[in-house]
Amino acid sequence: MKKTFPENFLWGGATAANQYEGGYNEGGRGLATSDFITNGSADRPRKITIRLKDGTKTMVNRRPTGDPKIDTIPEGTSGYIDENVYYPSHNAVDFYHHYKEDIALFGEMGFKCFRLSLSWSRIFPKGGIEGEQPNEEGLKFYEDVFKECKKYNIEPLVTLYHFETPAYLAEHFNGWGGRETIDCFLRMCKEVFTRYKDLVKYWITINEINVLNGYAFMGTREATAQVRYQAKHHMFVASALANKLCHEIIPDAKIGCMVALSCIYPKDCKPENAFGALDYRRGALIYSDIMMRGYYPSYSGHFFEEMGVTIKKEPGDDEIIKAYPSDFLAFSYYRSSVYHTEIVQNTDTGGQMGDVNPFVEKTEWGWAIDPVGLRYTLSELYDRYQKPLFIVENGMGTIDKPDENGYVEDDYRIQYFRDHIVEMKKAVTLDGVDLMGYTPWGCIDLVSAGTGEMKKRYGFIYVDMDDEGNGTLKRTKKKSFDWYKKVIATNGEDLSF
Ligand code: BG6
Repeated sequence: MKKTFPENFLWGGATAANQYEGGYNEGGRGLATSDFITNGSADRPRKITIRLKDGTKTMVNRRPTGDPKIDTIPEGTSGYIDENVYYPSHNAVDFYHHYKEDIALFGEMGFKCFRLSLSWSRIFPKGGIEGEQPNEEGLKFYEDVFKECKKYNIEPLVTLYHFETPAYLAEHFNGWGGRETIDCFLRMCKEVFTRYKDLVKYWITINEINVLNGYAFMGTREATAQVRYQAKHHMFVASALANKLCHEIIPDAKIGCMVALSCIYPKDCKPENAFGALDYRRGALIYSDIMMRGYYPSYSGHFFEEMGVTIKKEPGDDEIIKAYPSDFLAFSYYRSSVYHTEIVQNTDTGGQMGDVNPFVEKTEWGWAIDPVGLRYTLSELYDRYQKPLFIVENGMGTIDKPDENGYVEDDYRIQYFRDHIVEMKKAVTLDGVDLMGYTPWGCIDLVSAGTGEMKKRYGFIYVDMDDEGNGTLKRTKKKSFDWYKKVIATNGEDLSF
């Protein structure tokens, strides 16, 4: 039995370009679907600004409602930027101009690993359509970032696709709804695997594939179950072929899939709730089942039938998915939730977001705080796949109150991480889970994906910026910065305050 975390355990932190990078119109970058998303709040949904074929400007919900009449964007529509609207992704917290400073801070914390995503339209402004040349300035930017990481012995963990589709692909191929997007994605993969083969050894194909839906996430005009699952099928094929390419170009690299997998409990032992919870969970596990095992699981028949979905596969798709499974399963864990038969959801949540659990505390945004659920999830997944796991997102979004120097005494965050690391350690030492690493979400404050707010903060580093994008962008270490530094230095042994 292991007594502690493995020596090469990858402690670090996680970010994504559309919430962190900024520089949306710099360095030759093309527009992406995320560039048209407004800010919002817990009770004001984020919107997408679009222009219809006839020139009419309007807005649609970023998160589809489940009603095709409301959710569907007519053909010929394009995203557009309204000068009077604030778009949080445009500058985000400006990693684009602060990467040296930020990586130095990660280095000071002792990070072994830094998760970031590539902005696809920075590499190929039109997404990599046939004959398109890559954008050298974009490629150089990430090369500089990775070289900076190397200075501090930080391994980059690179997500190839995180919540943004090149706008050109959305307009011309209906995003992931069109098969052409598979080839475009693979051109981008080939380019970056080749360019960064000596700098990046850890890759993730598609972030939280189970929660993707609609234009903002997949570039599709429709958000119906049929279009969603057809687009996901294209992603499965693309992801498998990206695995193949990665192994051919970088033989010593590891490439994983990524699913949102916070666990689900049945409300009680009523058999319908217990089985219902298991079946609801399949709404998330179907993704890792396909990408880790290499085939659509037997239960997918009834899953698709109930939704009236028929997946159109090309000859050879099943063989591709089978031949090139993921090396590891990366997942996000934030909050457990509860299943019971009365749950009514008007849109597919990818097997996430059941009801609230009365036995655990919640954050200000109503997210359950459940460290034991992390051990539960790790055990569930390792028992199922027996392949390495990687916790690539975990954390607590809160309102931080800095003092006059910008210092935040975030004992609540330390407590949150401490409790989760205790359970994570039990999973490794007692349950025998093969865990590669731990990269808490938003290791430096960044824009919230759900609400577009800045005040929902996750970081060990405070960034001076508000919900409208005002602020100096000054970076200040929070109390949790030194605490996490000590945790990393002792390989998770010293968790004291
Ligand atoms: C995950 C995403 O869903 O959760 C991140 O991969 C996101 O992009 C994170 O930021 C936390 O959610 P939120 O809405 O608090 O930013």
